[in-house]
Amino acid sequence: VTPSLRRVAGAPPAVIAHRGASADHPENTMAAFEAAWAAGASWLETDVQPTVDGVPVLLHDDSVERTTGSTGTVRALTSAQLAELDAGSWFLRDAVAAAADPNRDPSPGSDRPPTAGAVHRIPTLAQLLAALTPGRRLLLEIKGAHTRAQVAAVLDVLGRSGADDRVLVQSFELDALGHVRALQPHRPVGVLVEDVALDPVQLCRDLGAVAWNPWFGLLDERPGLVAELHGYGVAVAPWTVDDPAAWQRLDDLGVDGLITNRPGALVRRLAGH
Ligand code: G3P
Ligand code: CA
Repeated sequence: VTPSLRRVAGAPPAVIAHRGASADHPENTMAAFEAAWAAGASWLETDVQPTVDGVPVLLHDDSVERTTGSTGTVRALTSAQLAELDAGSWFLRDAVAAAADPNRDPSPGSDRPPTAGAVHRIPTLAQLLAALTPGRRLLLEIKGAHTRAQVAAVLDVLGRSGADDRVLVQSFELDALGHVRALQPHRPVGVLVEDVALDPVQLCRDLGAVAWNPWFGLLDERPGLVAELHGYGVAVAPWTVDDPAAWQRLDDLGVDGLITNRPGALVRRLAGH
């Protein structure tokens, strides 16, 4: 069984924390994930990639440079090398600089300020799954091209975790989704898109996808797609939406989830505060 993203009639859209509570904490770290849950998010979104020794780890970029200050790509480094890297200092430095900027947006965005001095590491997928207790759900993006063996390694970690029934796998990579379907034909998947070059309904049918998750601007251009996809039982969860006006517009369209860097602010908004 895989968790359903479909919105229950009368309920608000699911709050899906993009790379964790990444507006306020270093993205894709356990601290960002824990902060998202503490803020009331029901889902996390994160990105999985293989290390050179085949361990699925959670990092968005190909390169470790932006978020660790080190060099190299995830796929060229070992899990042991990645485990040594500092995945948090860059964020704290930027946060301090932003706080000192006299032109900064004074609106409070912070759910819980990051803790100076804490050490943040790049988590493995297994590490996150160990914290995925019942009630916590994961929208797991297979990031970048994956061979069948690399997809199999992700599914293997899911299968061993005891939390697999709380995970929905998604990807922009149609080949990777094809590998998932070939390896586990009954596993539902989501498809990520940034355009409508492929007909959304046909694409979901071809992939057996239960979710079609677009860049949110596509729904401003094609608002009718939400109802159309719902007609085929497909959920829609746009990314990455941090603006309250857009939250409202998309909520009104009936989207099933909102993928946001600001889960705490969205939770409060949906609760009417
Ligand atoms: O979940 C969708 C969103 O994360 C896709 O964009 O670049 O942030 O992985 P990106
Ligand atoms: Ca992602």
